[in-house]
This record gives sequence, structure tokens and C-alpha cells, in this order.
Amino acid sequence: MTTIAKIALGKEGPLVSKLGLGCMRMSPVWGSKAKDEAESIATIQAALDNGINFLNTGDFYGSGHNELLVGKAIKGRRNDAFISVKFGGLVDNGRFLGLDLRPTSIRNFINYSLVRLGIDTIDLYQPCRLDNSVPIGDVIGTVADLIKEGKVRYLGVSEITADQLRKANSIYPVSALEIGYSLAERSIENDLLPTARELGIGVVAFANTAEGLLTGELQAPLAANDYRNHFSRFQGEHLKNNLAKVEVLKTMAKEKGYTPAQLAIAWVNRQGEQFMPLVSMSKRSRLPENRDAMAITFTPEETNILNTHFAPGAITGGTYLQR
Ligand SMILES: NC(=O)c1ccc[n+]([C@@H]2O[C@H](COP(=O)([O-])OP(=O)(O)OC[C@H]3O[C@@H](n4cnc5c(N)ncnc54)[C@H](OP(=O)(O)O)[C@@H]3O)[C@@H](O)[C@H]2O)c1
Repeated sequence: MTTIAKIALGKEGPLVSKLGLGCMRMSPVWGSKAKDEAESIATIQAALDNGINFLNTGDFYGSGHNELLVGKAIKGRRNDAFISVKFGGLVDNGRFLGLDLRPTSIRNFINYSLVRLGIDTIDLYQPCRLDNSVPIGDVIGTVADLIKEGKVRYLGVSEITADQLRKANSIYPVSALEIGYSLAERSIENDLLPTARELGIGVVAFANTAEGLLTGELQAPLAANDYRNHFSRFQGEHLKNNLAKVEVLKTMAKEKGYTPAQLAIAWVNRQGEQFMPLVSMSKRSRLPENRDAMAITFTPEETNILNTHFAPGAITGGTYLQR
């Protein structure tokens, strides 16, 4: 059984598991239904039992449903978990409406989050995005105030630019950058990742499987009711091109005795000590596979094959991560 290592997140250094559990897909998001609640709770608890203490949620995931679920799972074992929460997203029946990053709203949001989670302090608190509606200093400054007041322990950011990361970090030390990153999505390698490395900020990398593309299990065309049909990456020629690319990953996975999803997670993990793969798992049966992915290493030749074959831009078509 693979033991999950602990890493220090950013210069502030809270110790967290090097593999994070993404809880988003346990709740109704993007038109999906809530997953089986008992199994979701059992998955969170099994993750904690297996040394995966980093739990990721957002106050808008299922309009509070996700935080309530995480709250139930950690009841009686608060100290086993490191709770990361995003705020600022406005949704209506799973549809993203925009952002509300006003300081008064943040102060309102956090109190609801604490009640839903059943805790006194959120370990890592971050705006889900930044925009120009509120000065960045006001958003980060509000979280810094919440840290002083004891409602938050550490500051995080999500899906921002290198300039925004630098600015945020100059206002208050940023512990973690939550960002979509995978073999299929490497556009942040030019400026954002070097900036995070330079500033010593932890990289909490989500969408390692690129919404399932890198699992090798997708087949064209997708089912008519699949939310991914909205994105050009999963349509027509793009999907054909992308599935052909994934064949190389499937072949390497077979040769190494792993699944393509495991290699996709392992590639993110091997980007460095400060990288945490943040992986969605809604059932316990996913845990052993993804936990074991953390032990996978690549030879220089294998790394070269993956980096060349999945060079930035090789996977075509857009997703919800429009950069
Ligand atoms: N900051 C942001 O903007 C942002 C955006 C999106 C997500 N997130 C966070 O990041 C987390 C992960 O993101 P994600 O859900 O987009 O990506 P992901 O981890 O790649 O998960 C995508 C899908 O892959 C499935 N999966 C997991 N392990 C697998 C395996 N070994 N083989 C086959 N399929 C596997 C999951 O299924 P099951 O759920 O059925 O187990 C999930 O439906 C989320 O839970 C959320 O907390 C953050």
C-alpha cells in the first residue's frame, strides 16, 4: 500500500497530504445529480483514514450541499482534516452566474461556510476567481482580516494570472495556488508556474484527468446529456484528435502495469515537491488506484515521450478553463 507523503504548503508551511481529495463532484454541479451520500461520506472518511487530509470544497458547489456533506464526514474528527474552501462563485441550479468578491459578501459567505461545515476555522480560504469588479487588495485584505480574527488559517488563490499571484502575495503570503493542470492543459507553464515556484507557493493542481479525457475510457461521441458536449475539446475533430493522442498514454500505461488515469495523476505529482494532485473521487473504490499513482515514477525517456507527445497545445479545443 502506498503511503501518502506530507508536504509543506507554501512558505507558511501547513503540512498537508501530497494527494488531495476533490469533493466537488459528490454534489450537483454542471447539471449532474448528487452522488450517493453515504458513499461520498465514506469516501471522505476512508481518505482521512489513508492519510489524505486535504479536502477541497467550495461554498457554491451544489449551493452549499458540498460543505454540508464535508461537515458530516468530518464530524468528530476535525483535527484529521485540512479544509480548503473557495468562495465568490454565484450559481443557479449549477449554472455559473458570476462572481461576488465584495468584502461584505466575503464576510457573509464565510459565516455560512463555517456553519455548514460545523467548524470554527477554515484552514485554507480562497476566491474561486478574481475579476476587476473589486480591487484585488480588498479581496485579499478581507481574507487577511479573517485570518487575524481566527476564522481562517491560510490564504489561497485559484485560477489567476502570474501578475495577480505576485500582487496577491505582496499583500499577504499566499500558501497555495489552485489551478487546472494536466498533460492536456499546460498553458500555465510559461509564466504562472515559474512565478509560483519562485514565490514558494504550493500548487494544488486539479483536473489531472482533463475531465476524464486522460482516463482512456472516453469514447466518441459522448452521450447526448454529457455536460462536456458544451466544450469544443469534446466535439467533432477536436475529440477525434484528442482521443488519438491519448492512445500513447494508454500504451505506456499498459507497458508499466498502470491505468492511464494513474499516469496522468503521476505526471502532475512528479512536477515537483510543491505540486499536489487534487483528484475528484466520489467512491471508495477510486482510492487505492489514485493513492498508488503517487508512487509511480517515470524514466527520463518516458518523461520525454509524455512531454513531447502532450506538448502545450497538442490537446486541442477549449474547456471551461478559458485562458
Ligand atoms: N478551482 C477551480 O476552478 C476548480 C475547478 C474544478 C474543480 N476543482 C476542484 O478540483 C477537484 C478535481 O477536479 P475535477 O473533478 O475537475 O478533475 P478530476 O480529478 O480529473 O476528476 C474528473 C473525473 O475523473 C474521475 N476519476 C477520478 N479518478 C479516476 C480514475 N482513477 N479513473 C477514472 N476516472 C477517475 C472522477 O470520478 P468520480 O467522481 O466518479 O469518482 C471525476 O468524475 C474537484 O473535486 C474540485 O474540488 C477546482
